Amino acid sequence: MKILAVQTVITISPQNAAGFIKRGGIVAFPTETVYGLGADVFDEAAIARIFEAKQRPQDNPLIAHVATKEQIQELATDITESAERFIRGFFPGPLTVVLEKSSKVPLTATAGLDTIGVRMPRGELAQRFLAACGVPVVAPSANVSGRPSPTTWRAVAEDLDGRIDCILQGEATEIGLESTVVDCTGEVPVLLRAGAVSLAELQAVVPGTVVYEASDLDIVRSPGMRHRHYSPGAKVVLINYELPITNYELDRVAYIGLRTPETQSLPLPVLTRVCSSVEEYAHQLFEFFRECDRLKIHTIYCEEVPETGIGAALMDRLRRASER
Ligand code: TXA
Ligand code: MG
Repeated sequence: MKILAVQTVITISPQNAAGFIKRGGIVAFPTETVYGLGADVFDEAAIARIFEAKQRPQDNPLIAHVATKEQIQELATDITESAERFIRGFFPGPLTVVLEKSSKVPLTATAGLDTIGVRMPRGELAQRFLAACGVPVVAPSANVSGRPSPTTWRAVAEDLDGRIDCILQGEATEIGLESTVVDCTGEVPVLLRAGAVSLAELQAVVPGTVVYEASDLDIVRSPGMRHRHYSPGAKVVLINYELPITNYELDRVAYIGLRTPETQSLPLPVLTRVCSSVEEYAHQLFEFFRECDRLKIHTIYCEEVPETGIGAALMDRLRRASER
């Protein structure tokens, strides 16, 4: 598809960035998870431009971002008891709740689904931007589909410069992985995507919450999870954290993990990133993948982590990146 080039304005002013949304434009903005690419939830033409700019598959629904809890009423008809508890417990924060959508929300936003994902970011710049927009803003991650989500404004520019109207320039994002997504439309909440809010934290608020398990008979609950994601150009190889780290390939390799790799008998990786905690690892991962692509790395060795806390989300992204 041919995309008409536009001038991408880079600004540090949330008011300036919100002006583009009000005029029907598409704007990348930082949240505490990753940068999003936003449009007015009620503007179908702008939403169509998001799909075009990202080259996003048409069947992948968008998350609506709100500045206030009142805005949730505009988006959803039935705020279930479980959703209410999650909203009370985790908004603003890195959690998306899926609810029955209201008739005001166009189907272009939800890729034809009768549900909508809603989230209230806690990042200060995101909150000022959303407040200035005055409407809920639908936003997928601000990367070209299939690439790692952007955690810096430079990563956004790398993928989308000349395809979007504006980038709201902020710091590197705090968490670095996308939000937890939980479907609250049924009797029992279903965790669709792991994120910084862990299953245990959700269960502390609604004990029955379960993890989604795909079965052939089931309808696809979270279409985005079908698509290839979070992938650098390099091959990603996972290393078990209980085993010694050896067996490197010799050429153009990189390493990221919590431990220093044992490289006595082998050449040093071109790029080595030893992280001080699982949180730091999550924070660094996507930008590290992009850095590896810039350096034309062939193989990235990623150390596995225990699947507790944000470790579950990190392992989810690592597994997806290692699938070919
Ligand atoms: O942290 C985040 O969630 C970031 C920031 C920008 O908010 N956004 C983000 O959006 O990661 P995106 O589009 O890259 O991923 C959205 C995920 C997809 O897996 C999608 O299928 C799922 O959320 N999703 C969105 N709406 C849904 C719905 N109505 N039902 C089920 N899954 C939904
Ligand atoms: Mg995405």
